[in-house]
Amino acid sequence: MTTSPLVLGPLVRHVDETSASVWVETRDAGRVTVRADGGSWQAPTFRVHGHHYALVVVDGLAPGSVSPYTVEVDDARVWPPAEDAEGGGYPPSVIATLKPGKPLRMAFGSCRTSVDHGESGNATHGVDALRSLALKMATDETARWPDLVLFLGDQVYADETTEEMQRFIKERRDIDEPPGKELKDYEEYAHLYALAWSDPLNRWLLSTLPSLMIFDDHDVRDDWNTSYAWQQDIRRTSWWHERIVSGLASYWVYQHVGNLSGDERDADPVWQRVVAAHERPDELDLSDVLDDLAERVDEDPTSYRWSYARDFAGVRLVVVDSRAARVLEPDRRSLLDDEELAWLDGKMRGDVKHLFVGTSLPFLLPAGLHYLEAWNEAVGNGAWGRRPAKYGEQLRRAVDLEHWGAFQHAFHAVAAMAQEVADGRRGKAPKTVTFLSGDVHHSYVSEVDRPHWAGSSRIIQLVCSPIRNPLPRKMRFATAVLAYAVAGPIGKLVARSAKVPDAPFRWRNLAGPWFDNSIAVLEDRDDGLAVSWLTGVVEHGDNEHPRLDVVADVVIDDAG
Ligand SMILES: [Fe+2]
Repeated sequence: MTTSPLVLGPLVRHVDETSASVWVETRDAGRVTVRADGGSWQAPTFRVHGHHYALVVVDGLAPGSVSPYTVEVDDARVWPPAEDAEGGGYPPSVIATLKPGKPLRMAFGSCRTSVDHGESGNATHGVDALRSLALKMATDETARWPDLVLFLGDQVYADETTEEMQRFIKERRDIDEPPGKELKDYEEYAHLYALAWSDPLNRWLLSTLPSLMIFDDHDVRDDWNTSYAWQQDIRRTSWWHERIVSGLASYWVYQHVGNLSGDERDADPVWQRVVAAHERPDELDLSDVLDDLAERVDEDPTSYRWSYARDFAGVRLVVVDSRAARVLEPDRRSLLDDEELAWLDGKMRGDVKHLFVGTSLPFLLPAGLHYLEAWNEAVGNGAWGRRPAKYGEQLRRAVDLEHWGAFQHAFHAVAAMAQEVADGRRGKAPKTVTFLSGDVHHSYVSEVDRPHWAGSSRIIQLVCSPIRNPLPRKMRFATAVLAYAVAGPIGKLVARSAKVPDAPFRWRNLAGPWFDNSIAVLEDRDDGLAVSWLTGVVEHGDNEHPRLDVVADVVIDDAG
C-alpha cells in the first residue's frame, strides 16, 4: 500500500500528566525515535505476522505541556510529512500532557466505516464526523480542542467490507470461498486498519489527539458473542478460528496496547516480552504469543482483561468490555463474567465529580426495547417452553436483541452499583453517573427517574453513534417509532408474561433521537455536564471540506 518507511501512524495514545505513548506501524524492522521538547525516546520494532510496530513511551514531560514532536525510523525522519507531500501542511503534531486540575473535555463516538471522502463516499455513507472535527481543529485557530477522544466500538468493520477492502481480498484469495467478503486473517486486518486510519486529515488528528478505544461486535463480527447457540454455530465453520484469533491479536496491536497506562503495561504479560527484547539485536516476533493470547481469551474470558479505568481531574472514566468477557452458557448467561463484574464493582466509586462508564452497548436502551430484549432472553432460556426458545434465538440474531437488557443478571448488578454510587453509599455521590455508549446508529440522552436531593447523583445515558455509518432514511423513522412508541407498552407487557423482573428503576428519554453521523464532545463545566453532538455538512459541493455543525447541545445541570 505504501513505500514510505512509516506505514501507519503515529497515533498518540495513552497520555497522563508527564508521559505519552506513541504508536507506529513501520515498513521494515528498525528503531523508532520520537523527539520532543529537546529530548528523544526510542523503541525497537516488534513483528506480528510480517508487520512491524513500535510503541514509544515518551516520559519526563511537564504537566500541561504541549510539545511538537517528530518521528524517525532508524535515521530517517518520517513524521511530520514534508509541507508539500501528501498529508503535509497541517499544524505540527503535538504531545499534550494532561494539565492538573483542568476540567475534562472529551470527544466520543462509535461506528465508523472507511470509504472515500469525496462525492461518492459521502453519498453512500454521509460525511465522516471525525474527519470534519479534524478539519476544524487543523484549520480554525479559535477551535477548542478536546483533551482526548474515546472510540466506543466498531472502529473497523471486519464483516461488512468496503469495495476497496474487497479489492485487496480478491488479490489474495477466492472471494467466493468462505469467509467470502469478510476478513480472513491478520494480513487482512492490517489492511483494514490502514484503510481506517490513512486519510491524511484523520491521520493528522490521531497523531495529535490522544485516543482511547474499546471494541464492539463489528471489530470482530456482527452479533459477536450474542448467545451460546451463536458461538457454537460459528465455531463449526472452517474460518472462524482464524478470524477470532486474528481479530483479537490485531486488536491488541492496533487498539489495546495504546490504551494501557505505564503501570498496566508493566503488568501486561505480552508487553513484558516487548520490553525484555529491547536490547536484543534481532526483532522480536510476537505472532505466536498474540495468537496464543487470542485463542486463550476466546476460550476463557477471565484469562485477560480488555477493560480499563482512567482518572482525570476530578472525574473517573471506566471503559468496560461488553463483548469478550461474556458468559454464554444458557443457565448462567451474563454480559460480564464474575471477575469482570468484581473489577467493575471496585471501580464504581464516588468521591469524583462525574463517574463515566464507557460501554459500547447502551446500558439504558429505550425502555421498550430493553424489555423486549429481556423477554427474548427469558423465552430463549425456556420460559415459554422448548419450541419458542428456538424462535427466540432466531429473533435475537435477526434483530440484534443483544444489549444489556438481554443479559438481565449483569444489568441488575451494574444498575445496583450505579444506584449505590448515586445514593452516596460508595463515597461522596458524584454530580452524575453517566454511561457513554454507541452501537445503535442513533444518538440520544436518557435519564433514570429518581428523586433528587443534595448529595445524590443523576444517572444519565449518553449515546453517540454513528461517526460514519448512518441508517438508511426509511429505517430511521421505523427505528424511532419502534424504539420510542411501539416497543414501550408492548415490551413491558411481554416481559411480564415471561416473568422478567422489573428493572430497579424507570428511565426516560431526555433528548434525541438524532440519526446524523456525529461525534460528541462532553465537557465538565461549572454549570453542569455540557455535551454537543457535531456533524459535517457539505456546502457548495465541496465534499472534501465539510463544515462542522452542531446537531444538538445538552447541558446536564445540577437542578435536574
Ligand atoms: Fe456494534
